[in-house]
Amino acid sequence: MKRKYLYAGFVFQMLLCLPISCLFSQALSLEKIFANAQSHYTNALKANTDSTKIPRSTLPDGSLKLVKSNDWCSGFFAGNLWYLFQATKQPDWKKAAIKWTAAIEKEKFNKTTHDLGFMMYCSFGSGYNLTKDADYKKILIQSAKSLASRFKPKVGVIRSWDFGTWQYPVIIDNMMNLELLFEATKLSGDSSFRKIAIAHADHDMQHHFRKDYSSYHVVDYDSTDGHPIKKQTHQGYNDESSWARGQGWGLYGFTVMYRYTKNKKYLNQAEKIAAFILNHPNLPKDKVPYWDFNAPNIPYEERDASAAAVIASALLELSNYSKANAVFYRKNAKEILVSLSSDEYTAKPGSNNNFILKHCVGSKPHGAKGEIDAPLNYADYYYLEALLRYKAIVKN
Ligand code: GLY
Repeated sequence: MKRKYLYAGFVFQMLLCLPISCLFSQALSLEKIFANAQSHYTNALKANTDSTKIPRSTLPDGSLKLVKSNDWCSGFFAGNLWYLFQATKQPDWKKAAIKWTAAIEKEKFNKTTHDLGFMMYCSFGSGYNLTKDADYKKILIQSAKSLASRFKPKVGVIRSWDFGTWQYPVIIDNMMNLELLFEATKLSGDSSFRKIAIAHADHDMQHHFRKDYSSYHVVDYDSTDGHPIKKQTHQGYNDESSWARGQGWGLYGFTVMYRYTKNKKYLNQAEKIAAFILNHPNLPKDKVPYWDFNAPNIPYEERDASAAAVIASALLELSNYSKANAVFYRKNAKEILVSLSSDEYTAKPGSNNNFILKHCVGSKPHGAKGEIDAPLNYADYYYLEALLRYKAIVKN
């Protein structure tokens, strides 16, 4: 019996030691992919010199959509430059990343949004990981303080939005902001940030998920006693559907929860979400999901390359924690990356408003303003992140 387990363990270790490039036949030429990514962002930096106007997407008329520092997507452009610096070690990318990161510093005091994790961790956090800049550290801690101000102990979660008619809305996307809190505890020694992240994730686990581990987009809580009042969608097809990027945010968020806590319940949650996504009958063959798993006219619905990029990146991290499914996650992540790197999803330099990926959906229910079948700066961010994670796994 013991020998059998030893043998199984040995086979598992051997499989993990094999580069994924050997395990699965499709090609992924990282050198070519990063060269293409550099061409896009070289062009983007030439076309955009004012760092108060941040490239986010494409407008319905095809022109570039620019946003200010208080937009939830403001940190991704800088984050992409940091990832290009990480990939190439070329000082020009660092110089550009510093400039575009500095442009959003004032948001460290912004208490009107839960998106500070996206905004500040994907920019200053990436920069801090690569430079250990002492000012970045202070900015990250201040940003976490602002984010933590949106936590109400009576409700037990960080409030997402201040608009709308909800009492206390929380969206699944908010799982992505918890990384900033965990890092702030590591940087400051103040455990209150970490405690807030854990309380938030525990509430999400309890109230945001259905029996099949798909998630609702919005849960509205009673602001006096914290019980959930309504479960709805805002960017998905309908209240009971599974909005693709939301499933990706949950997968990524609970993988991060396991990274910081090593609590098996979060690993289990992430694995169950992965199973929902990867076994879904509506997941297309190329593994780039439709914008909603229950969109009504599949296969005549838009794909969301941003959801695919988030899922690929999360699966690659999760593969480092899961004994049973590591190979499966890596295989699927690689298949997604192969699809995203094909001409179908990767734009030619000089096109696509200088973003790498095509065919994303910001919010289909928001119509023409909803960035439908458009590039998104965060699709590029999670794609570059996934490629770097893939590269690290192949190297080891
Ligand atoms: N956090 C907003 C979105 O995923 O569209």
